[in-house]
This record gives sequence, structure tokens and C-alpha cells, in this order.
Amino acid sequence: MTKRKPKSPASTDKLHRAYHAESSQETADVYDDWADEYEQHMKNVGYTHPAMVAAMVARHVAPTEERVLDAGAGTGVLGEILTALGYPNIVGLDASAGMLKIANLKNNYLELTHQFLGQPLTFEDDSFALVVSSGVFTQGHAPLEGLDELIRVTRSGGHLVFSVARTYLDGPFEHKRQQLEQANLCRFVDVSERYNSAPLEDNLISQVFAFQVL
Ligand SMILES: C[S@@+](CC[C@H](N)C(=O)[O-])C[C@H]1O[C@@H](n2cnc3c(N)ncnc32)[C@H](O)[C@@H]1O
Repeated sequence: MTKRKPKSPASTDKLHRAYHAESSQETADVYDDWADEYEQHMKNVGYTHPAMVAAMVARHVAPTEERVLDAGAGTGVLGEILTALGYPNIVGLDASAGMLKIANLKNNYLELTHQFLGQPLTFEDDSFALVVSSGVFTQGHAPLEGLDELIRVTRSGGHLVFSVARTYLDGPFEHKRQQLEQANLCRFVDVSERYNSAPLEDNLISQVFAFQVL
């Protein structure tokens, strides 16, 4: 008789735990606990956010040695891709020290800092030519108010490219976007088609947006 293998937990279980976190610290704790297995789990589900964000960057921002901020850098998957595409000067921030520890092993970042989107950031105004964010503006993760600080730290004419997912899409994001555009803080540049960010296991519908800071 063949023994039945115990079913391993779904690779996005921890992600779903984070979706239901009730504070930014609780989200960070989920990621601290997940950091060592994060990339393997995300490979298992065919994780697409970093590639979709990098593709949008490549469409609108020529390779540059100016500073780039990866907001919610996690273990640094997007930093690896952007370095290969010709954006070598990347600073990363993340709420999870555990995720940053893994990113630090890759040597793709000038600097990695432990900071929370939704709170004031330590960077000076106009510090970056490009700000990217992959898999971070979603339920239980960074609040949409975090975009205000990302705009402040992007120089005029610079770009902001980020994914938006789940309950943020449509209503809440459209509202935030109108607020930012009406205040003349940024202008819409492009949006991707809707895509599934975990197509091998789940149905997590997202879009990538590009804005130019005014
Ligand atoms: C799904 S992971 C994405 C990581 C990386 N960008 C990638 O695409 O692999 C979400 C990341 O957002 C971070 N995060 C969640 N809420 C945050 C917040 N308020 N401020 C900064 N980082 C946050 C988590 O710690 C985690 O590293």
C-alpha cells in the first residue's frame, strides 16, 4: 500500500495571513517569519509582480545611474531584475527586517533601510529619479497614503511605477489617484492589463500603474 504524502500548506498561505493583518507591525511579523521560504514559495506560485513592474519601468524610463527607490523591496527580487536592466543604483526599504536580511545577501542595493510606508520616510525631498514597488500596495500591506511620501521623495519629472491589487483596485485606488492628480502632484502615464500575480496557485488580480511626478 502506498503511503499518502501529507499535503503541504499552500505557498500563498502566509500571503493570505498578511492580507488579514490588523497593523503594519503584524504584517512585518508575518514576513519576518516567512523570509527564509518566501522566494521558494513565490516561485512555486509563478509570482509575476516583479516582472510586470520591471516591464513597465523598461517601457517608460531609460536605463539610468540616478538613484532608484524600491519601496517594499522584500528579499530583493525586483532589485535583481532592475540591476540587470541597467538601473544599478537602487535603495531598498521594507517593513520586515527579516526580508531585508535576505535582500542584503544579494548585493544589488546601495542601501537597505527598515521603514514603513504610511509613515514619514527618512529620505530628503526629490531623492530619487524612479520609485518602484512590487506586491506592496495591497490589502493588509502598505496603505495607499504611503504614495504621498513616495511622491515627495521622487524628483520632478521622475517616475513612480507600482502594482495595485485586490481590494485597493478600482474604488480606493481610483479615489487616491484622483486626489493626487487633482492636486497636480503627478500625471498618469500608463497602466498594464489586469494580470494574476500568482497564476499557478491562486487568483490575485492586479495592475501595474506608471505616473510621472510633477
Ligand atoms: C509580497 S511582498 C513583495 C516583496 C518584493 N517587492 C517582491 O516583489 O518580491 C510584500 C512586501 O511588502 C512589505 N511591506 C508590507 N507592508 C509594508 C509597509 N507598510 N511598509 C513597507 N513595507 C511593507 C513586506 O514586508 C514584504 O516584504
